[in-house]
Amino acid sequence: MAKITKIFAEKVLGFRGQETIEVTVYDDRDLSANLRVPFGKSEGSFEAAYRAPDHAVAACNTVLNDLLRGMDPQDQEGIDRKMIEADGTEQKEKLGGNSILGVSVAASRLAALEQNIPLFRHFSGIFSLKIGQKPKESGKIQFPRLLYNLVEGGVHAKNNLIFQEHLIIPQAGSLATQIETIKSFSNSLNREIVRQGWDAGVWGSEGGWAGNVLDDAHDALGVEEEIFDALNTLRSQNAFAVEFGLDSAANNITSFEPARFCEFYGSLARKFPIAYLEDPFRESGDELWYAKLFGAVDGRMRITGDDLTVSNPRKMQEFAGKNMINAVIIKPDQVGTLTEVFAAVALAREQGWAVAVSHRSQETTDDYLADLAIGMGADFVKFGAFTQGERLAKYNRLLEIEE
Ligand code: PGA
Ligand code: ZN
Repeated sequence: MAKITKIFAEKVLGFRGQETIEVTVYDDRDLSANLRVPFGKSEGSFEAAYRAPDHAVAACNTVLNDLLRGMDPQDQEGIDRKMIEADGTEQKEKLGGNSILGVSVAASRLAALEQNIPLFRHFSGIFSLKIGQKPKESGKIQFPRLLYNLVEGGVHAKNNLIFQEHLIIPQAGSLATQIETIKSFSNSLNREIVRQGWDAGVWGSEGGWAGNVLDDAHDALGVEEEIFDALNTLRSQNAFAVEFGLDSAANNITSFEPARFCEFYGSLARKFPIAYLEDPFRESGDELWYAKLFGAVDGRMRITGDDLTVSNPRKMQEFAGKNMINAVIIKPDQVGTLTEVFAAVALAREQGWAVAVSHRSQETTDDYLADLAIGMGADFVKFGAFTQGERLAKYNRLLEIEE
């Protein structure tokens, strides 16, 4: 058994030059592994606390270093439980969700290194145990469908679209085919933007197009319909094999009542092939609207919790068996430990919910999310657009795994 000898954190550059932390875990075999921790902009209020980098660095280098020295990096659950107990708060406010996640994932990477196996195999081993299945030694990997953020709005952009992410979702297939479809779709959108006289070359946080859709004649929902109309025309003209998705991030929108949203989603789904709706209503108080929409779409669409469920098994339990959602976003930094992520995904599987592993808007160049998605057999990944390096890192890791 190897032992952790040191935990060391420092500040590094993350999304667009903002500071974040890099946490490294060392063992007594002279091996080490790290994580550069991302953070969100459109955060749910039940997420694990993000602590300022100085605080997070200090928490790692003092409390967590003392707490975990001597532990076995293979003991993921033991390491995570110890950190949760030492923090002692519901949302990891004391030590910070970012410090705790940094250690949790770096320790996991170290454990994979010690066994000399790829990280996704290590994740797959832990997750299989958790759900009581035999770990897959090798064999064919089912690749997730890409939820590709083609057009941005909301708090991730400075344009007249109120919804945060307008997604294209290629048909299931090899990663290479899905990527080709996305590239062709993006190229035809770029030509359409020029043809319409919309703002070309304007990008949102995740690298999707984020210009204004010029339109004085309609209200904000009318503008939303217009962009879907444009995307759908491109889809039909070019016979692109994609469906559409939407992350409303409804928590950030105050200009419409849930009843109006519900009606709008219904009309959108009648006109366009919408397969996926994320955070269609607010994270609290809109349970009845979730249930109403769930009943109306009758399984034809993924209704996905993000701010609603915050990757937290305790939070997800509130919605179990309730016919409100049938999919969840998994962003490990929302909850803070891999052990809780595995429990969340095990619960999702029990409930028959689809699982989408997702980046944050304010990412780093780290790529472990690709291994996590493959290791847990995620149905979808959401890694942003191909225009920014911190997103490409994850796609490139998926390609490496597919090889
Ligand atoms: P965030 O947004 O990373 O800014 O929270 C992403 C999302 O809402 O899916
Ligand atoms: Zn979201």
